[in-house]
Amino acid sequence: MNNLTDTNSILEALEEKFDAIKQKTETHLEGLLWSKPITYWDYIQTDALLNLQTQRTVLPDEMVFIMYHQVNELLFKMTLWEIEQLCHTEKPSTSFFTEKLRRISRYFDMLTTSFDIMGDGMEVEQYMKFRNTLTPASGFQSAQYRLIEFASTDLINLIDYRFRATIDRNTPYSHAFEHLYWQAAGKDHQTGEKSYLIQAFEKKYGQEFLRFMEEYNTINIWQKFKQLPDSGQKNPELVKAMRHYDYTVNITWVMGHFNAAKKYIESGQGNGEATGGSDWKKYMLPKYQRRIFFPELWSEEELQNWGENV
Ligand code: HEM
Repeated sequence: MNNLTDTNSILEALEEKFDAIKQKTETHLEGLLWSKPITYWDYIQTDALLNLQTQRTVLPDEMVFIMYHQVNELLFKMTLWEIEQLCHTEKPSTSFFTEKLRRISRYFDMLTTSFDIMGDGMEVEQYMKFRNTLTPASGFQSAQYRLIEFASTDLINLIDYRFRATIDRNTPYSHAFEHLYWQAAGKDHQTGEKSYLIQAFEKKYGQEFLRFMEEYNTINIWQKFKQLPDSGQKNPELVKAMRHYDYTVNITWVMGHFNAAKKYIESGQGNGEATGGSDWKKYMLPKYQRRIFFPELWSEEELQNWGENV
C-alpha cells in the first residue's frame, strides 16, 4: 500500500480499490460532492436509540428498569461481538486471546458493579407495583445471555448438575437442551410443568439456540483455549483473564443480581414469588447452580467452595 500522505497517492490507492471491483473512481469521487457531512446524531442513531424506552405503567421508576435492561443488552451484544471474533479466528495468538477476554470481562465487571442501579436505584413500592404489569416476563428470557453461555464453554458445563453423568458429546443437542441448568427455573417447582415463561422463550429462540450450540461445540472459548499451544495454555496472564471472566460472570454478576432480586421479592410487599415463577432462592445462587465455564482452571478446593463465602 502507498504511503497515503498526499492527494496523488490517495487517488492512486482509490483507483486500485475501485479497479479491483470494476468501478469508476470518478463516479465515486463525484458522489462525495453530494454526500451529507456526518453528524453525531446520525452516526450514533440517537433518535432511534432514545425512542426505544416505552413504559407500560405510570410509575417513573419503571423507566430506570427498562433502560438498565437495555444497557445490559447492549453490553451483552458488545460481549458477543468480541467472543465471535475470538472464536472464529483460526489460530489466535495468546496476546489476542488475552486481550479479547479482558475486553469481555471489562463489560461484565461494569454490569456487576452497576447492579446497585437496580438494587438501590428504584423505590421498592414502585417496583412492587410495576412488576405485576410485566408478569410473566423475566430477564431469564434474555437470549443474548444464553448465547454468551453457549459461546463460552462446553455444553456439559451448562447441563443441570443432577443430569451431567447421563450426557456426553454424543448426546443429541435437542436432548442436552432439555437438561440445561436453566430449565429448572422454567418449571413450576411445585408441579414440574414448563411455565409459560420458558415456553414462549423456546418458541421464539429454540431453533436459534440449537443452531448456535452446534456452531460453538468445537469453537467455544474453552475449546479455543484447549487448541492453543501448551505455552499459551500455561500463560499466566491468559489463565488469569480466563479465571477472572469465569468468576465475574458466574459469581459476582450472579450475586449482584441475586441481592437486587432478594431486596424486592423479600420486601414483604408481595407474595415472595419471582415474576417468572422459579424457586428463585435456590435457583439463582452459584453454589446450587454450579455453572462454571472453565472448571479445569480451578483447584479442587476452589471448585468445592464455588459460590460459598460471597
Ligand atoms: C430488580 C431487578 C431484578 C429482579 C428482581 C430480577 C429477578 C430475577 C429472578 C427472580 C430470576 C429467576 C427467574 C424468574 O423466576 O424470573 C431472574 C433471572 C434472570 N434475570 Fe433478573 N432480575 C432483575 C434484574 C435483571 C437485570 C437488570 C438483568 C439483565 C439483563 C437480568 C437478567 C436475568 C437473567 C439473564 C436471568 C436468568 C439467570 C439464570 O438463568 O441464571 N435481571 N431475575
